[in-house]
Amino acid sequence: MTEHVVIKTEDLWYAYAPDIVALKGIDLEIRKGEIIALIGQNGGGKTTLAKHFNGLLKPTKGRVLVKGIDTRDKPANELSTIVGYVFQNPMDQIFSKTVFEEVAFGPKNIGLSDKEVKERTEEALEKVGLLEYSNAHPLDLDFGKLKLLTIASIISLKPEVYCLDEPTTGQDHIGRKRVAELVKKLNKEEGATVIVITHDMNFVAEVAERVILMADGKILADGPVREIFQQIEILRKAQIKPPQVTLLFNELHPYGLPKGVIKLGEAVEILGDFLRKT
Ligand SMILES: Nc1ncnc2c1ncn2[C@@H]1O[C@H](COP(=O)(O)OP(=O)(O)OP(=O)(O)O)[C@@H](O)[C@H]1O
Ligand SMILES: [Mg+2]
Repeated sequence: MTEHVVIKTEDLWYAYAPDIVALKGIDLEIRKGEIIALIGQNGGGKTTLAKHFNGLLKPTKGRVLVKGIDTRDKPANELSTIVGYVFQNPMDQIFSKTVFEEVAFGPKNIGLSDKEVKERTEEALEKVGLLEYSNAHPLDLDFGKLKLLTIASIISLKPEVYCLDEPTTGQDHIGRKRVAELVKKLNKEEGATVIVITHDMNFVAEVAERVILMADGKILADGPVREIFQQIEILRKAQIKPPQVTLLFNELHPYGLPKGVIKLGEAVEILGDFLRKT
């Protein structure tokens, strides 16, 4: 395993019950510093796969290596300082009486000093824009802010890999933008690897470099975001539609416009140039 590979799965199978096989032979390498979007149809196995990255679930067959360590050999709480998983449903994660305590729990648990705990907690809350809610009860926050809180409680552990399970669900425009900026910031400033599970393809276009597409417990496609968004037929199999702007530019291709456009900003630029020339 090369140094740059932080997570590797080898023929990973997982069954919740004999007749519920959620993962069917997943082979994957995740490298340090990547921003990856994990996408695919409901029930495709995204969450099940993500829960293998920090050892919350252990393979039924095959194995998962985190920095070369077989996840079966380490308890999930030890792996959580390497890979932080943010639950799809915040209610599966939150248990404290205040926002501050919720975020402070991780750093306290790994034995940091009171001073360090306070610093890390405030820094994490600041990053997600919730510092002013420190004393609030988590359940007084709206769903979008609750998701940001669960992200903060992982940030305070400073993991090398973040795995965010549907952080855009329930976010308004500002919350969504905040999550997008946060992902880029964690990647750029902390050198973190970020895996984002999402159904929001505009979000994928905006933040991800690599896309992994899942359906029925298998990987259907894995590659650079622009290439994957061109594979309309494969995407359809996983009930995914690329961004509207991508579809529009594919339709306009016969008129001399390029394919592979995924962001609104670049579309505006290309169209502007095109219109000036004609
Ligand atoms: N705790 C569980 N017990 C039994 N079956 C489960 C459990 N969790 C998930 N499954 C099943 O495993 C399969 C994969 O589910 P998973 O939650 O990993 O998919 P997903 O891609 O995350 O879906 P979604 O987009 O809806 O979150 C589905 O068939 C689901 O019904
Ligand atoms: Mg899920």
